[in-house]
Amino acid sequence: MMDWTDRHCRFFHRQLTSHALLYTEMVVADAVIQGARERLLGFDDVEHPVALQLGGSDPAKLAEAARIGEAFGYDEINLNVGCPSDRVQSGTFGACLMKVPDLVADCVAAMKATVTIPVTVKCRIGVDEQDPELALDALANGVFAAGADTLWVHARKAWLEGLSPKENRDIPPLDYDRVYRLKAKKPNEFIGINGGLQSLEEARAHLDHVDGAMLGRAAYHTPGILAGVDAAFYGARPEAFDFAGLIDAMADYSARHIERGGRLGHVTRHMVGLFHGLPGARRYRQILSTDANRPGAGPDVLKTAFAAVEFGGRAAEAA
Ligand SMILES: Cc1cc2nc3c(=O)[nH]c(=O)nc-3n(C[C@H](O)[C@H](O)[C@H](O)COP(=O)(O)O)c2cc1C
Repeated sequence: MMDWTDRHCRFFHRQLTSHALLYTEMVVADAVIQGARERLLGFDDVEHPVALQLGGSDPAKLAEAARIGEAFGYDEINLNVGCPSDRVQSGTFGACLMKVPDLVADCVAAMKATVTIPVTVKCRIGVDEQDPELALDALANGVFAAGADTLWVHARKAWLEGLSPKENRDIPPLDYDRVYRLKAKKPNEFIGINGGLQSLEEARAHLDHVDGAMLGRAAYHTPGILAGVDAAFYGARPEAFDFAGLIDAMADYSARHIERGGRLGHVTRHMVGLFHGLPGARRYRQILSTDANRPGAGPDVLKTAFAAVEFGGRAAEAA
């Protein structure tokens, strides 16, 4: 998610779940080819498994960007066919590609011919006046024929005119059944669902119908739910999560980031929702939203914020 799932966010989320597949922000193929690669693509080894999401519609450029992503060590290349922003439309990529499924298939084929890691696609059920029955089938048929390894479907349309990107994530109604019907037609392909999932229980329920579930905003705003992922979906033994250990790990990570010239707030801005619902969470959030952004703030601010949180009536330090 652009501006959200940067490397600091992914490092943090990886402390909460060892197994969930994490996605980068979308990076446009041209930027990967021409831009400051280390800044755009650099990531920490602990982030694995991590997928690089690309934006673009030129098969040769996407293939080159995918090659670079694979060489950087990414575990998967994902093509964005779902983002509706104006900036993205002007570059002919994102959701408007729902209208040109053959071109999307060419993009997938070019990337598949270039890399050995999985190539996946994330799309909508349709855009504008498209009939989702036809549009999603056409897109899915094309990308799977081209060798796509997974199709993630954000289960709502995007309206390319008239709705902002934010509105396009809320206003067009969710239609999970449309994604289930696609899966029923394609039992041998990996099809995942996305859009509006608020909890691991909701994610679990979808797995009766599709192969995977992807959480966006809920994972970002209430990252504590990720602490249950490994036990719920990957067979890990359910055990109390060590939040004190997490804060120590994030404080160490922040210290390394600050040493390299970064700021504490770059890391902690992704952590404000961590203790959502617990006593003291408000104070924790306040400290991270203010003190952590002051010039010169150090990792001790994170520990001070954590000390405000109570677990079962005990201050975090003692928990
Ligand atoms: C701030 C923000 C940035 C996003 N950036 C991307 C992006 O770069 N690529 C993408 O495929 N989806 C992006 N999305 C969409 C989400 O991946 C997801 O499809 C959408 O929010 C619906 O899922 P959710 O209800 O679980 O959040 C973004 C969403 C938000 C809120």
